[in-house]
Amino acid sequence: MPKRANKRKDAMIKLERVEKRYGQGPYVLAGIDLEVARGSTMALVGPSGCGKTTTLKLINRLVRPTGGRVLVDGHDIAQRDVAELRRGIGYVVQEAGLFPHMTAAENVDVVPRLLGFPAERRERRRRELFELLGLEHGRFADRYPLELSGGQRQRVGLARALAANPEVLLMDEPFGALDPVIRRRLQREFIDLKSKLGKTVVIVTHDMEEAFLLADQVAILRRGALEQLGSPAEIKRAPASDFVRQMLGHEVTVDAGDDDPAEETVQVSR
Ligand SMILES: Nc1ncnc2c1ncn2[C@@H]1O[C@H](COP(=O)(O)OP(=O)(O)O)[C@@H](O)[C@H]1O
Ligand SMILES: [Mg+2]
Repeated sequence: MPKRANKRKDAMIKLERVEKRYGQGPYVLAGIDLEVARGSTMALVGPSGCGKTTTLKLINRLVRPTGGRVLVDGHDIAQRDVAELRRGIGYVVQEAGLFPHMTAAENVDVVPRLLGFPAERRERRRRELFELLGLEHGRFADRYPLELSGGQRQRVGLARALAANPEVLLMDEPFGALDPVIRRRLQREFIDLKSKLGKTVVIVTHDMEEAFLLADQVAILRRGALEQLGSPAEIKRAPASDFVRQMLGHEVTVDAGDDDPAEETVQVSR
């Protein structure tokens, strides 16, 4: 096989037997193996507290593993300069995580400024991103986050994450706080954007439907372990367990285990 074809299909992100515990607490991740192919989108799905955010933060080293390795673009990230690593990784969180005392423009300019882009280049890049994300620059650039709607904030958050043109994009429940109509619209825009930009994306959600809509591969997590990994079609065709079947039919936000009768399972019928 020609080398280039191999290169395109290789793993951009790789977790090898990754374990995490906070201090002397219980294991939050109990040995996760995961590969995200270059240019593909992986969704991490599971109930609250199962380890989705922790897994995501391991990739940009906001969290350090207590066991195993994380590789990005073939390199163990523990050996890499953390500032340089993060320049190559955009990060979007719920409610966009914008700096409240900065305007939309200043928020988007944060990383380009750190990189020493001159004002003219920063503005060019910002205008490009505003256009890409359907934000009218003249109307929104000088607004503060509180003067934007939820959907607009999320767009600015995405523009900020893309400002340095990173190869990898990490998104933690980016559409979670939006009302259903805006949420659908942003999901559709995201699908469009994904094919335009060709980034490697890891997106966290507790909504199985969203995972199936947006991702090429879906990793279902349960209590810090991988319950099932596969394409949406594979998971729909052959759910690996009752837990997965339950996730397919309902939005499971809290995992009630047999061994923990105090917890409640919240099931939202569709
Ligand atoms: N900084 C921390 N210190 C101690 N425990 C933590 C910390 N961050 C997360 N946890 C615990 O790790 C588990 C997984 O958390 P998290 O990855 O945020 O789950 P999710 O994103 O799936 O809801 C939870 O039990 C949570 O309480
Ligand atoms: Mg989380």
